[in-house]
Amino acid sequence: MTQGWKDPITARIWDTSGDKINPTRGEQLDILVYLLAEFIHRGEWILDLGYGSGKVEELIFERIPHSQVIGIDNSEAMAQLALECLSPYANRFIPLYGDLAELSKLQLPVSEIGAVIAIQSLHHLSAQDMQKAYRHIHSFLRPGGIFLLLDRLKVEDEVVFPLFRSVWKRLDGYHGSETAPEEGDSFAIHETTLQEEGDFPVNLETHLAWLRECEFHTTTLHVHGNRGLIAAVK
Ligand SMILES: C[S@@+](CC[C@H](N)C(=O)[O-])C[C@H]1O[C@@H](n2cnc3c(N)ncnc32)[C@H](O)[C@@H]1O
Repeated sequence: MTQGWKDPITARIWDTSGDKINPTRGEQLDILVYLLAEFIHRGEWILDLGYGSGKVEELIFERIPHSQVIGIDNSEAMAQLALECLSPYANRFIPLYGDLAELSKLQLPVSEIGAVIAIQSLHHLSAQDMQKAYRHIHSFLRPGGIFLLLDRLKVEDEVVFPLFRSVWKRLDGYHGSETAPEEGDSFAIHETTLQEEGDFPVNLETHLAWLRECEFHTTTLHVHGNRGLIAAVK
């Protein structure tokens, strides 16, 4: 079973409770939007891979005057939620139906892409498709353009798992979130849950190595437990 983003009920649940299992999301999104505001040139587009219910676009449009986004997703249910959420910004958003595993088929209606972002979406791709996606992302960007990846990172093994568990419990204590139970009581449960949900996260070093193979300059901007914000510059 995968998370079933195409199912309207799953989409609605995620839309209303995504932060509950990822309390770090707010801060990492805040950094991401701040960076976009600093680095995007006027007239350029942001390309969002897996835009979901439009929550990230809402933040971008509220905080960055004149910003414009092209979003790719393959869930009609998510797209419908985004349409509702982004109706005040309809003239600044182009939603496209597309598969992140097949970005070669993407016909972008604009050429001035200053930034590509992917928030909690690329970990749904296989290792091979993620590497393919990185090559396409590099080709979409203008020289100096940035790719910001905010995503789930792999918990390496059962030896380090208890450390992550403590980090999640601490976060839950501060935020009233449900990270620890959601991530699993043991490494085995954690791994099984990921597989059932169609999640294939890779670790930080692997992301950075794959991005560098595409000739990106890379850096890690923020990591908290198994959630990271990575930047890559073309
Ligand atoms: C966890 S949601 C994140 C949505 C949004 N980025 C956010 O952070 O609010 C993951 C999104 O990725 C999309 N997605 C997953 N795999 C995809 C694929 N292969 N092609 C296109 N979209 C995909 C899902 O439909 C879903 O909308």
